[in-house]
Amino acid sequence: MEIFVVPNAGGTGAVAAGILAAVIRSRPDAVLGVATGGSPLPVYEALAGHRLDMSGVRGFALDEYVGLPAGHPQSYAEVVRREVTERLHLDPASVFVPDGGAANPEEAAQDYDRAIARAGGIDVQILGIGHNGHLAFNEPGSALDSRTRVEALTERTRQANSRYFDSPGDVPVRCITQGLGTIMEARQLLLVVHGADKADILCEALTGPVSPECPASVLQLHPHVTVVADEAAAARLMVVPAGSVHGTGLVKVRAGAAVA
Ligand code: PGA
Repeated sequence: MEIFVVPNAGGTGAVAAGILAAVIRSRPDAVLGVATGGSPLPVYEALAGHRLDMSGVRGFALDEYVGLPAGHPQSYAEVVRREVTERLHLDPASVFVPDGGAANPEEAAQDYDRAIARAGGIDVQILGIGHNGHLAFNEPGSALDSRTRVEALTERTRQANSRYFDSPGDVPVRCITQGLGTIMEARQLLLVVHGADKADILCEALTGPVSPECPASVLQLHPHVTVVADEAAAARLMVVPAGSVHGTGLVKVRAGAAVA
């Protein structure tokens, strides 16, 4: 695991975008796993500034609500279109979001895993972390080897996401989410975290027990994880000079510098 600690949210965007840009330069048809929510927004902004040829890049979103009408502005299909596809000039035909409007969402979920496999798997999966430790919509209790599937959202997540809707009751109760096992198959995981409100859960995920109770703890089992956190989010991680790795299995870093 490598961890970058940077001063603020803008810095997380700059560092994560630099990592993605390097991947895209070396692989113009890279498959990106894209996340919604506030955490990755600075990444997309910064990546747009790199002015790369993105015409061959493909994308798969992490999740989608079930039951929103097609074209709903808060559906992740629309969020991804606005924040990712248009901003980065991706080919809309190469960007995929689970079909939350499918007549059979379970089948749509299984199809989604197959589509990722057909694309050759995900090169870099961008991730945020929820206050309860969720990754995508894998809420606490999700099996660490789970596949893309239909899930119920917890009240806490619905509450957190109500900021995007007119009223809390409008937040859907179900979703299709990539499973933790699906996410773990990406060749690189890029977790972007900012804000003091994420400090406790980030620390728990990276240094606590690996357990379905904290879905993001599964990151500890992946061979290539990059965490980009601002100082507020990293406040509870022990930051020591590169090379001094003790105890937890967590790689410690000096601020702003990555170690392998
Ligand atoms: P956020 O959400 O980036 O909006 O904080 C992250 C998440 O809930 O996964």
